[in-house]
Amino acid sequence: MSNIAVVGMQWGDEGKGKVTDLLTPAFDIVARYQGGNNAGHTVFVKGKKIVLHLIPSGILHENVLCIIGNGVVVNPRAFLEEIEQLESLGIKVDDNIVISKNAQLILPYHPSIEEVTEKIRGDKKIGTTCKGIGPAYVDKTAREGIKTGDLLNMDVLRSKVEQSVKLKNIILAHFQSPIFEPEEIIKECLFYRDKIGKYLQDVSYLIEKKINEGKSILFEGAQGTLLDIDHGTYPYVTSSNSTAGGVCTGLGVSPDKIDHVIGIVKAYTTRVGSGPFPTEIHGSTGKHLQKKGNEYGATTGRPRRCGWIDATALKHAARINGIKKFVLTKPDVLDELDEIKIGIGYSYKDSPLDRFPTESWVLEELKPVYKTVKGWKKRIHGTKDHQSLPESFLDYVKLIEDLVQAEVVMISTGAEREDTVFLRDKMEKFIDLDKIVDRPDINNES
Ligand code: GDP
Ligand code: IMO
Ligand code: MG
Repeated sequence: MSNIAVVGMQWGDEGKGKVTDLLTPAFDIVARYQGGNNAGHTVFVKGKKIVLHLIPSGILHENVLCIIGNGVVVNPRAFLEEIEQLESLGIKVDDNIVISKNAQLILPYHPSIEEVTEKIRGDKKIGTTCKGIGPAYVDKTAREGIKTGDLLNMDVLRSKVEQSVKLKNIILAHFQSPIFEPEEIIKECLFYRDKIGKYLQDVSYLIEKKINEGKSILFEGAQGTLLDIDHGTYPYVTSSNSTAGGVCTGLGVSPDKIDHVIGIVKAYTTRVGSGPFPTEIHGSTGKHLQKKGNEYGATTGRPRRCGWIDATALKHAARINGIKKFVLTKPDVLDELDEIKIGIGYSYKDSPLDRFPTESWVLEELKPVYKTVKGWKKRIHGTKDHQSLPESFLDYVKLIEDLVQAEVVMISTGAEREDTVFLRDKMEKFIDLDKIVDRPDINNES
């Protein structure tokens, strides 16, 4: 059976959570490879909203193992809160979760350092989620980080915490921010050791063993390609590789184990936080998309900036991730529009640009070039079969496919699992679709 990676092709919030949850029954394992509780993956099941931050979006299904890889930064407090939330909804969380012993910890001083750093950045602030993600990855690359596995060795833990807190306190004190007591952090870590110790394993070996047993894996990306630390709109990005390459480093999996990379594309674009956004809409249409698409951050509640779909950025994402197939989400949000714009290129200083630029000053100044198409002006929200989709909507989909040079394999028409059009002939090439569509809550044909 194929292993697939589900990767966002924009600035996050493309609907990765919905798609991952929906496809999970065709897999044995769902694994997160990067990011942390900055992610907010929303799943709706029969009107009930569940937002996952750190735990993979496969957790709502029985007999599926959810793995948190070494590339993820783990805030144990957030992890335990998420488990509590799931258990209060009657979702079993026990031997169906594994955390890599090699994952880095987010400890209480990381968000504090981030708040100070964002303040210093002033009007150049990134607008992070302030969950301590950046500072935890800084510690990792500075080789100052504390791993989940360190919780199991008191001597190592004590010496690392003492060292780390000493350094952080110098910065925090300098900016008149409250400092931390090493003994308190150690005490907190011992509490976490008792609570999460049972979940810790060598994930790279575990995955190899499972693959050898014939198990299949869905690798769930967090954030999106344009937030990737290397290939996104740096410095307005997150601090990890959200692109498909992150699967290998973030789980200890070799590249030949990824059979297909499935891109997730929202029918328009959103972005939370600061940074360039060439196709941003500043007027009333932007507000309309924000309201109709309920575009408010699933982690911070901040309003998401809204804009038109950007084919140049999508082409960049398809290239970096090796995406030939994608899922289109939220086109229903465009149902009422008379006209829809599609960003088909850029111009910079009056010359055309044929690719997504990496220089921040170019990104900030370039102008989008649009193609305008007529809206379909029909309700596609909740549509389940391909035949019911309006012709003009299918033309719009074809245009995006041609521009991005990738094919649509599934169209999401609402937040619920059953609000989905499966393109059976295309999906069957990489997924056992019967395991999904034969479920009682999903019963679609195309
Ligand atoms: P993620 O971070 O990529 O998992 O996406 P989020 O969960 O942050 O944001 C996507 C939002 O859109 C969530 O509230 C979903 O419930 C919702 N959603 C997903 N697919 C669709 C769709 O096709 N139509 C509509 N209207 N909402 C959707
Ligand atoms: P999901 O997985 C959208 C954004 C933040 C900020 C930048 C850096 O739900 O798609 P960070 O806290 O990561 O250092 O913030 O990245 N950001 C997201 N935007 N969806 C996300 O995750 C995001 N995770 C981080 O708003 O601009
Ligand atoms: Mg999200």
